[in-house]
Amino acid sequence: MVNNFSMLRKPIAIILVFLAMCPASFGWGNEGHQIIATVAADHLDETTKVMIQSLLGNNHLYSIASWADDIRRDRRETATWHYVDIPLGDKYNSSRDCALPESCVVLKINDFLKLLTDKNATRDQRAEALKFIVHFVGDIHQPLHAVKEAKGGNGVHVRFLGDDKCGRYDCNLHGVWDTSLILRTGLGRQEYSQHLEELIQSQKLGSRDGGTPEQWANESAQLAGAAWVPDGASLDEQYYHRENKVVDRQMALAGLRLAKLLNDSIGKMTPRDFGSGQAPNIPAQTSAVPPVQVGGAASNIKVWVNPRSMVYHCPDTQWYGKTKSGEYMSEVDARQKGYRPAGGRECR
Ligand code: ADE
Ligand code: ZN
Ligand code: ZN
Repeated sequence: MVNNFSMLRKPIAIILVFLAMCPASFGWGNEGHQIIATVAADHLDETTKVMIQSLLGNNHLYSIASWADDIRRDRRETATWHYVDIPLGDKYNSSRDCALPESCVVLKINDFLKLLTDKNATRDQRAEALKFIVHFVGDIHQPLHAVKEAKGGNGVHVRFLGDDKCGRYDCNLHGVWDTSLILRTGLGRQEYSQHLEELIQSQKLGSRDGGTPEQWANESAQLAGAAWVPDGASLDEQYYHRENKVVDRQMALAGLRLAKLLNDSIGKMTPRDFGSGQAPNIPAQTSAVPPVQVGGAASNIKVWVNPRSMVYHCPDTQWYGKTKSGEYMSEVDARQKGYRPAGGRECR
């Protein structure tokens, strides 16, 4: 009698070979994108948060950070939007590296920023634009997403720390940068973003939150030159320790730059500009531009003041005790110091 296993051996072997062929990686892995979005969320202005909430509801920014990868197979035209193919050692050239109709990550960040702030766009279009921006600002900071050779290193087989398997797949240089270097730290999303927050402070990265997608792509292309290895290379502990610092810095910068891009765009809009003149569904205690009530009787209730936005929050409201910078004080003191109540309403 032929046993069942020997009958199945051939199809199993075919499946295993297929899996080992390792599909091209899609961007920082899920982890990288979520960490970047978590850093960004901690640097958003209050108004920006309100606008984001009107598009995403109560979904945290990190929860939509990999959406663009999830839809990539179904929406084939979006595949080239995740990277820019700059020849190694060269600089970005728009007609060469980002020609239409395919386009590339540099132009797509600008395109979606326009759509996000377009008063005539629908809410759904702007929500989608936001999801693409959150993802693509991450991708453009992954050095190998700015390299043409071997499809950004997807075609460069490597060993990583003595192993030729990275998860289920054969290791390649691109995948090591998307995922393996991040996973190797053993840090979870919260711990990692906390670690990057410390890096932002110690290396004063706050001053580097500007620039344009073109400049970010050129920085990535240059870093990729230093990270590049030949086919068959073994990436050792020394490589890990050197490039881990680059990964951290790039993810921190991506988070800061994403936050600034959003603060400088939708953070400067009013709710009226959303949804063909309709105000978004803003939580009762918050408003983008809170009108100050003149002559209101401020209470002695302890409020939470945010010195960055000069807005204060009442107990039991969304941002009470939650904003990155802030302190508690009486409502009377807050008013005296020039703070305005969130939503224009006093706490009593
Ligand atoms: N496919 C072609 N080039 C690529 C790159 N630089 N990154 C990811 N995927 C690619
Ligand atoms: Zn991507
Ligand atoms: Zn990738």
